[in-house]
Amino acid sequence: MSCVLVTGGCGFIGSNFIRWLLEDDPEVRVVNFDKLTYAGNLENLASVAESDRYEFCPGDISDRERVDGVLKQFDIDAIVNFAAESHVDRSILDSTPFIQTNIVGTQVLIDAARAAGTNRFVQVSTDEVYGSLGATGAFTEETPLAPNSPYAASKTAADLLVRAAVHTHDFPGIVTRCSNNYGPYQFPEKLIPLFISNALDHQPLPVYGDGENVRDWIHVSDHCSGVAAVLREGVMGDVYNFGGRAEMSNIGLTRRLLELLDRPESLIRFVPDRPGHDQRYAIDCTHAEDELGWKPTVSFDEGLADTVEWYLQNANWVERVRSGAYREYYEQQYGERLGEG
Ligand code: NAD
Ligand code: DAU
Repeated sequence: MSCVLVTGGCGFIGSNFIRWLLEDDPEVRVVNFDKLTYAGNLENLASVAESDRYEFCPGDISDRERVDGVLKQFDIDAIVNFAAESHVDRSILDSTPFIQTNIVGTQVLIDAARAAGTNRFVQVSTDEVYGSLGATGAFTEETPLAPNSPYAASKTAADLLVRAAVHTHDFPGIVTRCSNNYGPYQFPEKLIPLFISNALDHQPLPVYGDGENVRDWIHVSDHCSGVAAVLREGVMGDVYNFGGRAEMSNIGLTRRLLELLDRPESLIRFVPDRPGHDQRYAIDCTHAEDELGWKPTVSFDEGLADTVEWYLQNANWVERVRSGAYREYYEQQYGERLGEG
């Protein structure tokens, strides 16, 4: 039985990945290593908590002693690093935890994995490392790295640390770069769950700038199957892009959400733009399709309707994750912009 250490497994994508992997592979054992920041929620894994193929270990990826301890305790074959500070707006307010976790934490994991002789290391990265696109074209794995936010810069640094370890130490590292995920268990600070939650509460939906920025949306289950394919068959040192081929402007998406939720467009508020806001992302995932036989399978229409339904059915989950700490962040980020600060 192979044993995979998943870092950041209590977050949105990590928790979906753990549930996906345990179901997909009856032979796998998963150790979830997570610091339980504001974005980490053990409740996301309630359905697998009792499984004898699942173990939770609290810890910080930038704590070398703790990481060494976990690698020693379990016979880890592979590491999938999801752990990160993941929200662009937070990185603009304060980049400190982004540098510590995303950069220092990744290097600590690389060093610990090398010392332990781990066979495979998958670094889960983002299309934001490529910067911003104009009206046409798509990011390929050869697109030059040009990150624009502190979050994107910290993820780029981590990608380069993996690259350097592969080049210098023959480290078995692979990097995945994915576009915007959506689906169940996403923290309601990101566009889709935030706007669903606000609309359900009859609260304004704060659209940055003119709302014409474009994102390429992928259902989280398609990202999970991509990361799993890389874990099994990815070539060491390679980079794999993943995307949903579902581009949409923020304002178009906002209108669609309001329609699905049967709420009026009068809830839309155009608020001052995100500083340095990337205009457009689009991913060319031909490499993953050709080399791994992977394909996105969930259409945006179907996935969005399912996601709205999940949030309708799980209003209590949203209530619980919107802790005091989250309310403080919301006030800082939106209070003045919405004219309520
Ligand atoms: P998230 O914010 O929902 O979850 C992050 C998880 O990491 C949380 O459980 C948190 O407790 C944990 N964590 C944070 N700092 C840690 C530390 N120092 N040590 C251990 N655990 C720590 O993030 P997400 O949206 O699920 O993203 C997961 C990964 O995927 C990130 O690396 C992100 O950059 C990448 N990614 C996200 C998207 C997206 O659309 N959300 C797209 C592409 C790539
Ligand atoms: O592209 C992958 C990236 O997608 C991941 O690496 C990040 O971890 C993830 O957070 C996401 O980044 P974005 O900045 O694209 O996602 P976010 O949901 O924050 O914003 C999506 C778009 O919506 C973006 O153009 C900004 C806009 N937006 C966002 C919020 C939170 C608004 O207009 N209003 C808002 O209140």
